[in-house]
Amino acid sequence: MALNTINPTETSAWKKLEMHYNEMQKASMQELFQLDATRTEKFNLKWNDFLIDYSKNIITQETLQLLLELADEVGLKSAIADYFDGAIINQTENRAVLHTALRAKESAVINVDGDNVVSEVYEVKSKIKVFTNEVTSGERTGYTGKPFTDVVNIGIGGSDLGPVMAVEALQFYKNHLNVHFVSNVDGDHVNEIIKKLNPETTLFVIVSKTFTTQETLTNSETIRKWFLESATQEDVAKHFVAVSTNIEKVTEFGINPSNVFPMWDWVGGRFSLWSAVGLTISLAVGYDNFDELLQGANEMDEHFKTADFDKNMPVTLALLSVWYNNFFGAESEAVIPYTQYLQKLAPYLQQGTMESNGKSVGRDGKPVNYQTGTIIWGEPGTNAQHAFFQLIHQGTKLIPADFIGFITPLYGDYDHHDKLMSNFFAQTEALMHGKSGEQVQAEFDKQGISEEKAKFLLPFKVFAGNKPTNTILIQKLSPKTLGSLIALYEHKIFVQGIIWNIFSFDQWGVELGKQLANSILDEINTKTVKNHDSSTAFLLNHFLMNK
Ligand code: F6P
Repeated sequence: MALNTINPTETSAWKKLEMHYNEMQKASMQELFQLDATRTEKFNLKWNDFLIDYSKNIITQETLQLLLELADEVGLKSAIADYFDGAIINQTENRAVLHTALRAKESAVINVDGDNVVSEVYEVKSKIKVFTNEVTSGERTGYTGKPFTDVVNIGIGGSDLGPVMAVEALQFYKNHLNVHFVSNVDGDHVNEIIKKLNPETTLFVIVSKTFTTQETLTNSETIRKWFLESATQEDVAKHFVAVSTNIEKVTEFGINPSNVFPMWDWVGGRFSLWSAVGLTISLAVGYDNFDELLQGANEMDEHFKTADFDKNMPVTLALLSVWYNNFFGAESEAVIPYTQYLQKLAPYLQQGTMESNGKSVGRDGKPVNYQTGTIIWGEPGTNAQHAFFQLIHQGTKLIPADFIGFITPLYGDYDHHDKLMSNFFAQTEALMHGKSGEQVQAEFDKQGISEEKAKFLLPFKVFAGNKPTNTILIQKLSPKTLGSLIALYEHKIFVQGIIWNIFSFDQWGVELGKQLANSILDEINTKTVKNHDSSTAFLLNHFLMNK
């Protein structure tokens, strides 16, 4: 069944939200807290090892009520059912969107074209398991009989960002294998990695859903050439495996079909780490941990599918984001994990969110007349505090932020952890409360600062406050909670796309640049600059003359 097309601005909930926004735009969170002693109890959600406190938002119960009405009016309930049931909701590519099937229970039945895809998923999972165990145990060896010490993931976009993020996030759970990632077509990138490798003991995992991606194919060719300097063509089979839907192209590349891990066109690249695209994750942390990651995601899927919308974590985060994006005019959202392990979360979510919801045409094929995809950015705290927090606290822009923290540190170092977490709590409090002129003056008085100096300094030291944040507090960073966290954001993206009436699962916007790059490459190769605007022609000529 196709998704409906409802312009959200034409719903009655949207109109009510516009009126409500007029009342709320100047609302002070501090006052809202003073007016309602039970505010935090009302605006928090607990589920498994997760607690989300969203009371530090510029909302009242009426705001939430209206946002929930919006979700109902755009048909979110039936859209969720379509999403999980394998309906063709990626209509511009005529595909189902079933990354949730990759982490479904073995007993689940999800049909695509009459076939239960769950059984295919489990076949591939068992292939991943066997392969992982053979590599990590040393049973599978390289061409000189030595066990593998290094794994290189060659892929880009969704075939890189998910594995990189998860391997980094799960470093604590890692085994002895050194894991590297080659993504950029920048030759300096691949050469820097090659420098660290021994061909006898390195396994290469080429990940490309389409197996047509210029970056991945170029890097794979370069690596194979380097490999063949010390090994033979026959040895390629022992050292190169591929993850792809395009078995024909993989075979053409010279990879043995038995070394191919299939995936399916109903898995979008940016949602694919749960499939064999996650092979590198499995190799890095072991199959059982990889499976836990999937289980964590599956549990979040169940929560998303079954919890009432007012108790539903992904729905709540999505609605709050719509509130700021479409009514307050916020352009971006920051994601600040208070753990260094999640340093790649923001780039990962950038692809997930911006490639999905960076669309300006509605599902009815007409240009939208409202804002869609938010800009996502972030860095781990406390580093972020010393980099860009100044702008969040005292700049002119409204930047809603998600703060993600963990109760238990993995190495048990509470000296560090308590300092880390005191910053975590302090920042959301500071962002909400700010610091008034009176408070600043009181500090000056205490410090005995002269009247003249105080008068000059005071405006610079005032913090307006009232900056919205969500606090996502999780018991401990584990494969399972990581899986749930990623799925939480995946479903947030889905809900936003439904509300914005856009197709979240295609990415036509990345094609134009690829096409132009191919024709410019021909011009560079033949040293003939063809028809371009004068700026591009000028730059190309300068490049060709000086290269
Ligand atoms: O850049 C667009 C894109 O198609 C992403 O959606 C995808 O994750 C990436 O390229 C890599 O594609 P592939 O896995 O087919 O090499």
